[in-house]
Amino acid sequence: MGAGIAQVAAVAGHTVKLMDNRPLAAAGAVSNIRAQLAKLVDKGKLSMERAAHASSRLVAVELLSELADASLVVEAIVENLQAKQAVYSELESIVGDDCIFGTNTSSISVTAIGAALKRPQRLAGLHFFNPAPVMALVEIVSGLATDPAVANTLFATAAAWGKTPVHTKSTPGFIVNRVARPYYGEALRLLTEGAADCTTLDAVMREAGGFRMGPFELMDMIGHDVNYAVTCSVWNAFYNDPRFLPSLVQKELLDAGYLGKKTGRGFFDYREGADKPTARTEAPHVVPSAVTIYGQSDAARALAERLTKASIRFAHLDSTHGRIAMVGDAVVFVTDGRTATQRAAENGIDNTVVIDLALDYAKATRLALASAAQCTESAAHAVIGLLQACGLQVSRLADVPGLAVMRTVAMLANEAADAVYQGVCSAAAADDAMRLGVNYPKGPLAWADHLGLETVHTVLTHLGASYGEDRYRISPLIQRLVFSEKPFHD
Ligand SMILES: NC(=O)c1ccc[n+]([C@@H]2O[C@H](COP(=O)([O-])OP(=O)(O)OC[C@H]3O[C@@H](n4cnc5c(N)ncnc54)[C@H](O)[C@@H]3O)[C@@H](O)[C@H]2O)c1
Repeated sequence: MGAGIAQVAAVAGHTVKLMDNRPLAAAGAVSNIRAQLAKLVDKGKLSMERAAHASSRLVAVELLSELADASLVVEAIVENLQAKQAVYSELESIVGDDCIFGTNTSSISVTAIGAALKRPQRLAGLHFFNPAPVMALVEIVSGLATDPAVANTLFATAAAWGKTPVHTKSTPGFIVNRVARPYYGEALRLLTEGAADCTTLDAVMREAGGFRMGPFELMDMIGHDVNYAVTCSVWNAFYNDPRFLPSLVQKELLDAGYLGKKTGRGFFDYREGADKPTARTEAPHVVPSAVTIYGQSDAARALAERLTKASIRFAHLDSTHGRIAMVGDAVVFVTDGRTATQRAAENGIDNTVVIDLALDYAKATRLALASAAQCTESAAHAVIGLLQACGLQVSRLADVPGLAVMRTVAMLANEAADAVYQGVCSAAAADDAMRLGVNYPKGPLAWADHLGLETVHTVLTHLGASYGEDRYRISPLIQRLVFSEKPFHD
């Protein structure tokens, strides 16, 4: 991370001294950065002149005392509180009073690092994402003692380096590592509950949810040691709040040494010759004849457009009770967090099928659904046939509350809402952080605005009622906005 940050700063025009306590590691890092710069020139992404200037501004040093003239010291050493405190304490007696400190810690309290300093006001978090030269987001983390002027200087500096900085407070996980927890947590629960296998859930999250990577392949890539440790650290730091409860399924992988891609096995098997599993997709069913589309919701409008394109005739009526389609006597709803079975019983419609959320129903290539226990197989097949006629691949999940995308998005929005409610960051910062730090297709709060906060509120209410767990409690901010009929972003 240190080398990546040094590269960014040097390309932006600063002289950068690199220091590492492993002998010759800094010199090695300088050579590596120069090689990276040369590659960027080859790819036409950086001019030869800028690369040459940046290369000439990189200086490897062996001692902290050689950093005496620095105006900013970015620390990216081992993730250990005492080590970070020791480096900054020593630096205080080396650098000038106006030198500021930016720690790249991912999980340690900036307040706690600062507590060892004579002048803690000069320290803030400067949290880059990996790889630093590529990822746009930088979290500027203010500890209790951080001078707002220092946070603002780091914010302006990161912006001048071509990054998108966001302000946040020194709370567990800052923004990204906190708000992202449900992406893994809900997926792990869906797997535990037998909603579907990992490959199918990944496909649904990518092809319906629009996420770049499914949660299971992503955890395998991050490494279960790292991902589980971050979850535990956030869970512990929030005094075991069930929102962040770690998963036994992931702990099993860890215990087995299946750490993901790096060890050749995680949820998936990466060893040579291993089978590549495919997502479970429903076999073709007949194109139904009696189709009605209800209302003007995103889902209903997209289905109507897709049917028209496929030259399939249908009636279009106003919606009642949230129904979006009817095929024969099967009625289709977008999940509202109840199981299809509960909804069937409460509506008195046996042949109830619920479909999952899609980022964009018009562009999705796959959709998940579940049918009620009361629903006949032929009614479920008619709905599957309808969606297939619309050009969608269909993944049939077990009848779990909130299905996959809807449940995950509602929980991401809930966590982001709590971060905003608790003054950790603004709504705009939460959305920028999740789009740019972990490549989400939409900020969770903008997504909630699009869905309508009442929908998110309803889904969370039903999840809470189904599980009876504090995990699904609704952020007071969502409750307040629902009652005031206001969105997160005006
Ligand atoms: N790897 C990531 O994806 C990532 C992302 C964001 C932030 N971070 C944070 O960045 C920091 C570094 O992470 P990394 O993955 O680059 O680790 P790393 O182990 O790859 O690099 C750490 C470097 O610091 C050196 N070092 C250790 N103690 C030192 C000391 N006392 N003085 C000088 N040098 C010392 C090590 O020799 C090593 O070269 C951590 O705080 C980590 O949490 C990592």
